Amino acid sequence: MKIGVIGCGFVGLITAVGFASKGNEVTAIDIDRERISKIKNGIVPFHEVGVEKLLKSSLKKGNLKLFNSVKDLIDCEVIFICVQTPPKLNGAINLKILKKAAESLASQLKKGNESRVIVVRSTVVPGTIENTVMPIFRRINNVEVIFNPEFLREGTALSDFLNPDRIVIGTKSIRAGKIISKLYKSFNAPIIITTSQTAELSKYASNVLLATLISFSNEIARICENTPNTDVEDVLGITHLDRRFKVARDKSKAEIISYLKAGCGFGGSCLPKDLSALISYARLINENTPLLKSVATINKYQPNHLVDMASEAGNGLENKNVTVLGLAFKGGTDDLRESPGLKIINELIKRKANIKVYDPLVDTSKIKNNPGLFFGVKAKNIIVASSIKEAVEICDICIITTNAPEFKSIGKYLRRGKTIIIDGRRIMKVSKRSNKNYYAIGLPT
Ligand code: UGA
Repeated sequence: MKIGVIGCGFVGLITAVGFASKGNEVTAIDIDRERISKIKNGIVPFHEVGVEKLLKSSLKKGNLKLFNSVKDLIDCEVIFICVQTPPKLNGAINLKILKKAAESLASQLKKGNESRVIVVRSTVVPGTIENTVMPIFRRINNVEVIFNPEFLREGTALSDFLNPDRIVIGTKSIRAGKIISKLYKSFNAPIIITTSQTAELSKYASNVLLATLISFSNEIARICENTPNTDVEDVLGITHLDRRFKVARDKSKAEIISYLKAGCGFGGSCLPKDLSALISYARLINENTPLLKSVATINKYQPNHLVDMASEAGNGLENKNVTVLGLAFKGGTDDLRESPGLKIINELIKRKANIKVYDPLVDTSKIKNNPGLFFGVKAKNIIVASSIKEAVEICDICIITTNAPEFKSIGKYLRRGKTIIIDGRRIMKVSKRSNKNYYAIGLPT
């Protein structure tokens, strides 16, 4: 099938490369010329396992082409719109970029009469397809607009694309439903054809469910911290053994339980934004959402809670050498958006600590050349370490914010018994009994 993709960000590029690898002829465009020229040369602008290899082979085979203008999509039967819907200050999503992309595509499609399916993949609140996107294409013959949410996790996005849990197609059009089902036929996943509003809401419900599990776990962790002889790992570990959290066939634990673990709060470009957008949408339809608001409140304070822990353990933070391990919002990615690690750094700056940071996947030059990153504080006042050893060997307090595998082995570089460890992800095997300087989320002190 001839497929077009508008937007070569995270979702767009994975969609383009993924469909190309399935033998489709894909044309992807992005208005950012520098990004397109990098991708044309086989360079993936973000860290994502497996994408570079597949990108290079698709470029070599010639079934992925990259351009800068919607004009180049004129021959495509199915066109995916994968542009960002950034949050506004009030938490609602901003549809400006999506509308602009749709309008420029509509102006091109006016010229032809071939039938086409426009697939919105950007996350949008219920009603957006019918009320905002469809009207843009109303006067064009043979065009259907549908919604097909993505469920890609950063770090495993390509494998999530190629082995999806479900394909959701939001459309009333039987013809469009058939075309998109055919496109996904070889993906070996249930295909759900439903209304565009159900599809739109299902994407939010999926992410907000994960966010709720995380905030629930963090609240239980706080209770544990003030209850002697408990440990959130044990408490939640016992809940994980409920047979309803097991995969029936082989009795192994279902993957969902990894969200039922305490940590330093959820981050990234999706969970925080989608939670705010759903709260804001509910407000618009006059629905109160006390549960969702609490999920957001718990998450807002969790990074500061880690800093409070560090301060209590270290008798204040002023002029203390504090190392933050983990800048990305989770291990396995270099994405800094809504990262708890950055929020922790912001708080440490306010409390006048001497800060050193390290993340194995984040490009240190990206940090050094981005003075705005640390909330206006010049990056030169923050030491960016280039190895784990350099990061932790001389520090008073070490705060772990992601589950990057190499953080598990910091023990060998620390000043024995002297450095205070604040384990924000419960990745270390140390216990409070064996190391008095070990503090962790969900562990009483
Ligand atoms: C999330 C969803 O997991 C995807 O299903 C969805 O498609 C995507 O948003 C999206 O809307 O595009 P992602 O933002 O990559 O994907 O992040 P997750 O891996 O879910 O991580 C989100 C937060 O949950 C992070 O702060 C992470 O540390 C935490 N997390 C992640 C856990 O607590 N446990 C885990 O097992 C994984």
